[in-house]
Amino acid sequence: MMEYSEFSSSILSELPKEGHITCTSPSNIALVKYWGKRPVQLPENASISFTLESCKTTTRLTYKKKEDTKNDFDFELFFEGKPKPEFKPKILAFFERIEEYLPFLKQYTFTIETSNTFPHSSGIASSASGMSALAYCLMLLEKEINPTITDSQLLKKASFLARLGSGSACRSIEGPITVWGEHNDILGSNDSFAVKFPYTVHPNFEAYQDTILLIDKGEKQVSSTVGHDLMHGHPFAAKRFEQASRNISTLKDTISSGDLDTFIEIVESEALTLHAMMMTSMPYFILMKPNTLSVIQKIWEYRKQTGSKVCFTLDAGANVHVLYPNSEKEQVLDFITKELVAYCQNGQYICDKIGFGAKIV
Ligand code: PMV
Repeated sequence: MMEYSEFSSSILSELPKEGHITCTSPSNIALVKYWGKRPVQLPENASISFTLESCKTTTRLTYKKKEDTKNDFDFELFFEGKPKPEFKPKILAFFERIEEYLPFLKQYTFTIETSNTFPHSSGIASSASGMSALAYCLMLLEKEINPTITDSQLLKKASFLARLGSGSACRSIEGPITVWGEHNDILGSNDSFAVKFPYTVHPNFEAYQDTILLIDKGEKQVSSTVGHDLMHGHPFAAKRFEQASRNISTLKDTISSGDLDTFIEIVESEALTLHAMMMTSMPYFILMKPNTLSVIQKIWEYRKQTGSKVCFTLDAGANVHVLYPNSEKEQVLDFITKELVAYCQNGQYICDKIGFGAKIV
């Protein structure tokens, strides 16, 4: 059954025989976290994120119309130039899920060539950038098939499709700030795709910096699928979803007013709450490493000593995202290189900042 008729597809022109499309799409970092979902890929609470700029996936989609259409998906997958059969089941499941919205999928043989700007085993989730890049490429193909699609419809449906690949991926199509999940205070927000933050963004957040400290590049202990599942029957789930909703309301005002102290309070609390949910689930997990905690302590000390507005957030792993206003770029980078890099695995970190979403190359 079609979930949303607004995203049905009409084939208005003859299907193009062959061609290729290349696009990039970035990762994003949630300020209010999405943790807990219900079928199909719908969030238990609204989330809000900064779209990133440098951490991104480039995807080239080559398509060739099949001579005789067998009723099957047909695609090859290359990651950083090499065939990646182990990624194929995830893409196949994605194609199966989105076929009702892109009925031309089985008419083509696809070659998907993809690469990331960040190291594969860095612990930086590649599903957000990877799934949003593929969804965006597919929408550019749909636009060739149906040129009446407007730019805003294209972005909306790309986010909708990306969500069906990996929830948080829907927040990567646009930037600099996006909201996913229905929330009374955010106009147009809904569970099926992300929307661009529809209010004024204070200049304090322009070119906001995110330096990602690679604390532990090991394979993730808990996949996000397992993680989201842990929220079913979690003793604190209902309260957590209420708290996230209140935090969205507060952050909405903060983003418009530029109040960085409140911003810090919400963002750090959200990061620790995400990890608290994992520590208090059954089974329970600790995804932070000793160096994660050392970095957090150092950031708190530095803030106390200097009055800086630097803060941290975390993903479902040990790495630390260090967030700070562009006006503090030099001082904070100096602090990072002198005091924090020592806690990074092989001294590795990535300098990123707020960005603007998927792009055609
Ligand atoms: O999109 P998923 O299913 O990989 O979940 C992502 C969850 C977090 O990154 C931990 C939080 C978020 O909102 O991005």
